[in-house]
Amino acid sequence: MAAVDMTVPVDAVAEATLIEQEEAAIERIKRAREILGDEVVILGHHYQRDEVVQFADFAGDSYQLSQEGAKVKAKYIVFAGVHFMAESADILGRDDQVVILPNMKAGCSMADMANLEQVLTAWAELEDVLMADPEQQIMPITYINSAANLKAFVGEHGGTVCTSSNAEGALKWAFDRREKVFFFPDQHLGRNTGKAMGIPVEQMVLWDPFQPYGGLTDEQILNARIILWKGHCSVHQQFRPEHVDLWRKHHPDINIIVHPECMMEVVDMADYVGSTAYIGKMIAAAEPGSKWAIGTEIHMVNRLKNQYPDKMVQLLSPFACLCSTMYRISPLDLANVLENLVEGRVINQVSVPDDVKQKAKLALDRMLSIPK
Ligand code: 13P
Ligand code: SF4
Repeated sequence: MAAVDMTVPVDAVAEATLIEQEEAAIERIKRAREILGDEVVILGHHYQRDEVVQFADFAGDSYQLSQEGAKVKAKYIVFAGVHFMAESADILGRDDQVVILPNMKAGCSMADMANLEQVLTAWAELEDVLMADPEQQIMPITYINSAANLKAFVGEHGGTVCTSSNAEGALKWAFDRREKVFFFPDQHLGRNTGKAMGIPVEQMVLWDPFQPYGGLTDEQILNARIILWKGHCSVHQQFRPEHVDLWRKHHPDINIIVHPECMMEVVDMADYVGSTAYIGKMIAAAEPGSKWAIGTEIHMVNRLKNQYPDKMVQLLSPFACLCSTMYRISPLDLANVLENLVEGRVINQVSVPDDVKQKAKLALDRMLSIPK
């Protein structure tokens, strides 16, 4: 019997095995892609690991991925992103297309902060306070980071979906039609966008779904312009004003650029604010030698850092801000779904029921038609 090497820790052995498996998965993906050819398109979000996103035929922010998803000709769309993105691709795609999420556990913790039952309760309570059909006065807007049935709710009530890159256009569109906006699930995107449009912070109230009437008085609801759902992104809430102070203290010439899912106090201090695509474009266009501290997910920041070694690119926070759900998609998962397709099997299909799909499509189509 071979002697066991007791000097190598068990964890190190497991890690070595995983690295080997992932290296082998890269080759498996290449082989499967070659066989599948034009039958498959891979879409990838900027927060994906390099080992996965390198295989994307198209990488972008949520808005670009929705636009691109609607144009795909291939029968199979493999979505290297999170569940709500795959659902949106299924809603916008053709009936004969199949959308696949390489790991079904890749969700979004912010999207999970609002569900249909809670939103229906809120809508009924708003109706009670306004003493009128809320549809007369309130436009519902859901951030794309939400379940398909919430998009359907919005579609059914005349509202729209928005992303981080068109939230201002969506709010303008809404205020042209109704007096108030009910914005879910991300309070920060709603507040930051409303503030940039000149809406006073006091007129943007926070709806807590775990409190009767959102924890608000009738007067607060009646005076509000925007009713913000109490939801947030656990990754972006880690960026704090003191991180901005610290970078500016050590590098007075640094540029601070953040995603609008960050809290208002951070966004107010930043030099630039925008979606992941906007952040990518800004760093690409920046002068060599310029300095940047970025408030968004670490995989994207590290990629930009490696792509532009002639610029100083750093994460705004001293802690690794990782989207752990996005990270769940590994090269092993991608290899697995592709190899199954080669064998003629569809696994991990994301399929939105037809009735939900039709209504949700109304809201997504509105989003794509609103000028940015
Ligand atoms: P973008 O639309 O800017 O890519 O953002 C998506 C997201 O989930 C950010 O946390
Ligand atoms: Fe959701 Fe935040 Fe991850 Fe974006 S970064 S997918 S909002 S958990």
